[in-house]
Amino acid sequence: MRLVVAMTGASGAVLGIRLLERLRDVPSVETHLVMSRWARQTIRLEANRTASEVASLADHVYHPEDQAAPISSGSFLTDGMVVVPCSMKTLAGIRAGYSDGLITRAADVTLKERRKLVLVVRETPLSEIHLENMLSLARMGVSILPPVPAFYAMPSTIEDVVDNIVARALDQFGVAVPETPRWAGAGAALSLAEQASIY
Ligand SMILES: Cc1cc2nc3c(=O)[nH]c(=O)nc-3n(C[C@H](O)[C@H](O)[C@H](O)COP(=O)(O)O)c2cc1C
Repeated sequence: MRLVVAMTGASGAVLGIRLLERLRDVPSVETHLVMSRWARQTIRLEANRTASEVASLADHVYHPEDQAAPISSGSFLTDGMVVVPCSMKTLAGIRAGYSDGLITRAADVTLKERRKLVLVVRETPLSEIHLENMLSLARMGVSILPPVPAFYAMPSTIEDVVDNIVARALDQFGVAVPETPRWAGAGAALSLAEQASIY
C-alpha cells in the first residue's frame, strides 16, 4: 500500500506525527509525506520536534512547492491520501480545486482519480464557509474526520486520545492498529432491569 500523508498548519501536529509513527511499524505501507510551511512551524511550536525529525518517519518526503513530485500526477499510483491535521485554508483549496502547492495538487489528483481522501480537519468553532467546504467535499466522497475524542474509550492521557484518533483515520484505509480500543457494546455490563431503572 502507498499512502500520501500531508501535514498542514492546523493545530494537532502530534496527530500527523503519531500517524507516521504508526505507519512506520507497518512495513506493507509506503508513506509519501508533504509538510506545509506552517506545518513545520506547528511541529516546532506544539510538538517540540523539528521538521527533519518528522521527515525521517516517512519513506519519501517532498517539498510543499514541488509540483513535479511523483504524487503530483495521477499516473503515480497510490491508495489514497490523508491530510492530518488539515487547516481550513487547505480544506478550502482542496474544495475549490485550487492546486497552488503540492498538498492541494496531490489532493486534487486523489479526487480526480477517485481515490480515498481523508481530511482530519481542525478548527473550532466552525464558520459557514468551513462547514460548506466540508459538506461539499463529503458529497464527493471525501472522509471528513475531525479529531474528536472518543470519550467512551475512557482515555486517561492525551496520548490515548491521539492514538484513538489516528487509529480511526487509519481504519479508513483498512490499516488496523493493534490494541485500539473498540466499542463492542455495553454487553452484560447492564442487565435489562438495570437499563430499565435508568429510565
Ligand atoms: C499554533 C497555530 C495553530 C493553528 N491552528 C489552526 C487550526 O487549528 N486550524 C486552522 O485552520 N488554522 C490554524 N492555524 C493557522 C494556519 O496555520 C494558517 O491558516 C496557515 O496559512 C495554513 O496554511 P497551510 O494549510 O498551508 O498549512 C494555526 C496557526 C498556528 C501558528
